[in-house]
Amino acid sequence: MAATIIDGKALAAKCKARIKDEVEHLSKRPGLAVIIVGDNPASRIYVNHKKKDCAECGIYSEEYALPECARQEELLELIGLLNGREDIDGILVQLPLPAQFDEKAVLNAIDPGKDVDCFHPYNVGQLMIGEHTFLPCTPAGVMAMLDEYHIDPAGKHAVVVGRSNIVGKPQAMLLLQRHATVTICHSRTPDLGAITRQADILVAAVGKTGLITADMVKEGAAVIDVAMNRNAEGKLCGDVDFEAVKEKASFITPVPGGVGPMTRVMLLENTLTAARVHGK
Ligand code: GUN
Repeated sequence: MAATIIDGKALAAKCKARIKDEVEHLSKRPGLAVIIVGDNPASRIYVNHKKKDCAECGIYSEEYALPECARQEELLELIGLLNGREDIDGILVQLPLPAQFDEKAVLNAIDPGKDVDCFHPYNVGQLMIGEHTFLPCTPAGVMAMLDEYHIDPAGKHAVVVGRSNIVGKPQAMLLLQRHATVTICHSRTPDLGAITRQADILVAAVGKTGLITADMVKEGAAVIDVAMNRNAEGKLCGDVDFEAVKEKASFITPVPGGVGPMTRVMLLENTLTAARVHGK
């Protein structure tokens, strides 16, 4: 039987309506500062999306666009100013940064209470011990999708393919916290298919078109595709062979229209959380 298609776009719209309503009930408007350095075209699109999403939910946003040649000290000074501003609840530095920047030092400079990406080591540590304030946006979006479709990770075997700090590692942690048995696979995992075939919940987060083929998926699995790749024809696609895998899985996310919209929503959710923590 063909899988249920998990509609990330529809769920994101529903979440945004709820966030808008919650924002309206705060005593003050939440504020998000987005910093972009240089002219990476993908980053420009992402930042524009973030500003549009904020506007739609009543969140104040401001953008700081620094030139490609900006210096680390300039960026650190800006972050310091934003850390001290009461009207700004969240600070996001769009990645990647140009080569002259020390990315780690930049992310560490953001006040952990304003770290709406959940990249600061303090927040990563809080996540590890199950005492988070913020959740990393993509893994949190995936968990919200599983919940919406009543896919309970408890007691299931969840396999996460990819071990990035932004997606793979925190995704595994969130699934573990929801009582899944979790396996993390990566580029040096031999016979990947032998592991992915055991997955009740399979999360693909590598960034390699065609990585997950139908023979690597267990009948009835829930398949979540986090990747955003371009295929040979320039079309957006994920890591999963969607057409073939949807005939075998019980649930599957499309690309586009799956995880992507939910990642965007979770930034708004984190900004709302930050505003609440700041007493708004
Ligand atoms: N670049 C690509 N994805 C992200 C993200 O989630 N946050 C930031 N800050 N930069 C990104």
